[in-house]
Amino acid sequence: SRVVKLAVIPGDGIGPEVVAEAEKVLDAVTAESDVTFEKTRFSLGAARYLETGDTLTDEDLAAISANDAIILGAVGGTPGDPRLKNANIERGLLLKLRFTLDHYVNLRPSKLYSGAPGPLAAPGDVDFVVVREGTEGPYVGNGGAIRVGTPHEIANETSVNTAYGVERVVRYAFALAERRRQKLTLVHKTNVLVHSGGMWQRIVNEVAQEHPDVAVDYLHVDAATIFLVTNPSRFDVIVTDNLFGDILTDLAGAVTGGIGLAASGNINPDGTFPSMFEPVHGSAPDIAGQQKADPTAAILSIALLLDHLGLPEESIRVTRAVEADIAARDGSRTTSQTGDAIIARLQA
Ligand code: NAD
Ligand code: IPM
Ligand code: MN
Repeated sequence: SRVVKLAVIPGDGIGPEVVAEAEKVLDAVTAESDVTFEKTRFSLGAARYLETGDTLTDEDLAAISANDAIILGAVGGTPGDPRLKNANIERGLLLKLRFTLDHYVNLRPSKLYSGAPGPLAAPGDVDFVVVREGTEGPYVGNGGAIRVGTPHEIANETSVNTAYGVERVVRYAFALAERRRQKLTLVHKTNVLVHSGGMWQRIVNEVAQEHPDVAVDYLHVDAATIFLVTNPSRFDVIVTDNLFGDILTDLAGAVTGGIGLAASGNINPDGTFPSMFEPVHGSAPDIAGQQKADPTAAILSIALLLDHLGLPEESIRVTRAVEADIAARDGSRTTSQTGDAIIARLQA
């Protein structure tokens, strides 16, 4: 039988609450299969930093890297908490993992399930995937500030875009579009960000030559936010940079039933490093510890994990169970009641 080594990072806030449900679902769906998940838990995040002063040590990183895959709840404290001012949890932990493990594809599917509480009156069939570049853009941390706190302060945040980095994620997006509805939309801001935008557009045009069946479209990011609300069914695969992809996928989550349903995979397609699966949402300090969080995003991230590991049947079973549960939801439930309801659907 096959053994998969899985690193589990519950994290902060609602992270541990939603990861507990995701683990329950993973255990249930693999109970009778011949794959065994060997889990190692890592206590990382703002809470750990406040306790020990550590964000992500070299030992943590080495131990996490030794796994086949990672699931993560969410990390980060309450925005603005003065005790975390120098902690840099997001950069020093989450982005450090994504960068070190070369998660150059940040895969963020958005599907409007029947019965999901979307805000749109007539949304149509909404089923698209944002392929967000995961290792470049302004997230790299290239920049700096001088004369901080003075009227002459200059703060620079440089967006890094390499031909290598753009081409590999664009190739992934085209291959994905081939397997879906053969439509790819590049989202950027080429009218203003002419250097990086020009390169993204040129690379998309070049790779498009190899995919004559894929219809290629382009939208400026501001216009893309309009169409994500007015006509989200027009999208199949959206490819975009790290920052635009971050913003678009919170919007996409809100449009397709709420951020509590939005799953993601930080993928290293080459398989050199473990990929990491996590909800799109954060640690939600406003509802943490109250069993109010929707664990569905974490559970759908398990479906992405299973698919990535070459377990498509288990993955589809999880997705179907979620779909059936969403169709039947009414009234409010606790986090663990939702996990239990999805597991009941799995076994039905
Ligand atoms: P957030 O996603 O945590 O919360 C935004 C809003 O969505 C809140 O009102 C929250 O209650 C709600 N929400 C989020 N997840 C939900 C769920 N599963 N069910 C129901 N409601 C949910 O975003 P934020 O408030 O901007 O960030 C909070 C902290 O999380 C910050 O420290 C931020 O840096 C961090 N963060 C971490 C990740 C991650 O670890 N991947 C992602 C985003 C934000
Ligand atoms: C996300 C989060 C992260 C991001 C932050 C916490 C660094 O918002 O996963 O979407 O911007 O990528
Ligand atoms: Mn985000």
